[in-house]
Amino acid sequence: MSILITNIKELLQIRDASVLKISGKEMNTLPSLKNAYVLIDHDTIIDFGSMEDLKTTDADQTIDATGKLVLPSWCDSHTHIVYAGDRSQEFVDRINGLSYEEIATRGGGILNSAKTLQNTSEEELFKQSTARVKNVMKLGTGAIEIKSGYGLTPEAELKMLRVIKRIRQEFPVKIRATFLGAHALPLLYKNNKQGYLDLIINTMLPQIAKENLANYIDIFCEKGYFDLDDVEQILTAGKQYNLIPKIHVNQFNAFGGVALAVKHEALSVDHLEQLNIEDIKALKGSNTIPVALPSCSYFLSIPYTPGRQLIDAGLPLALATDYNPGSTPSGNMNFVVSTACIKMKLTPEEAINAATLNGAYAMGIATEYGSVTKGKKANLIITKEVPNYNYLPYAFGDNHINTVIINGEII
Ligand code: NIG
Ligand code: FE
Repeated sequence: MSILITNIKELLQIRDASVLKISGKEMNTLPSLKNAYVLIDHDTIIDFGSMEDLKTTDADQTIDATGKLVLPSWCDSHTHIVYAGDRSQEFVDRINGLSYEEIATRGGGILNSAKTLQNTSEEELFKQSTARVKNVMKLGTGAIEIKSGYGLTPEAELKMLRVIKRIRQEFPVKIRATFLGAHALPLLYKNNKQGYLDLIINTMLPQIAKENLANYIDIFCEKGYFDLDDVEQILTAGKQYNLIPKIHVNQFNAFGGVALAVKHEALSVDHLEQLNIEDIKALKGSNTIPVALPSCSYFLSIPYTPGRQLIDAGLPLALATDYNPGSTPSGNMNFVVSTACIKMKLTPEEAINAATLNGAYAMGIATEYGSVTKGKKANLIITKEVPNYNYLPYAFGDNHINTVIINGEII
């Protein structure tokens, strides 16, 4: 099956195959081609160029994109999209004055979601999760990193990871799996943190590795959750099974987690709503990419990650949703891109780079996804007729997408 997209008003994010991430000042450039075409064969972009140079109109399907933009589909490098139920009651509790931390201390929060998930069958969990996956695909997301971490027992963590595996097998969207057993301390281990870490290291990790259920390992490095010593233990144990770190760090408190993650060659450090100069120093010269989650800041009314500061320091930045029931019940990358421009003062070029190629880098798939490059996967968004690409983040909250193509398939 081949698809030819013609008369594209502007084709965005055209990159050479050698560019795997964009840093600093470069992030303000979005290479593009006006009046362009793209040719897809099966799941691959095989050609693109100016309409004047279009040699063949021979394709199984032709899409006329007059007045429309084409860009790579979003790469959402940080989600917890596999979860059971919702936490809308906690949302109302927060409106009525309780803080996110207070709710967690009362046994709500992550433990609340874990209880629900433990009591949900694998089939039902798959059903609830895939409804969300289908929804975000329609919103233009073509690659999703998904974390475990709402199980907190060996059985329930494996259940989550098996659901993630099944999503990978049954959907065209690219999936990467992350084991986040160290997301919160389960009640059973309330006074025995080392006991839970041992359970992760000695029971969960070997089984996950045996079934090949995860690409990455994550831990929630935060006061009241897991400290630097715990991070050291978990990341060291993960390495034995070739699990590369991606870590939740600096959401509420900054105390050295970023430098430790960089030391462990983490692929990404995510959240960073709190950031100090040592964190920036640690990231400089490393291969670790910072990931900002502006929808989480929006929903919890916490500070936004200082993305400007990171980019101005010459660093790369990725944007992701953090889709989860507690801090971000939304998987809409279009909203993330808008919010990054509006609240973090990223330019549209920076935000689009952060949500496409840099997102792909943050989930280890930039050789195949994140840009319009010959040989990369055919994951594309065709917008509605819009005046220009600035209009996408500018006219926030509206759906500007006409067609989504994932793995060469029209969604
Ligand atoms: O990334 N910060 C830790 N984990 C999730 C939210 C957890 C929850 O509230 O369920 C996050 O925001
Ligand atoms: Fe998260």
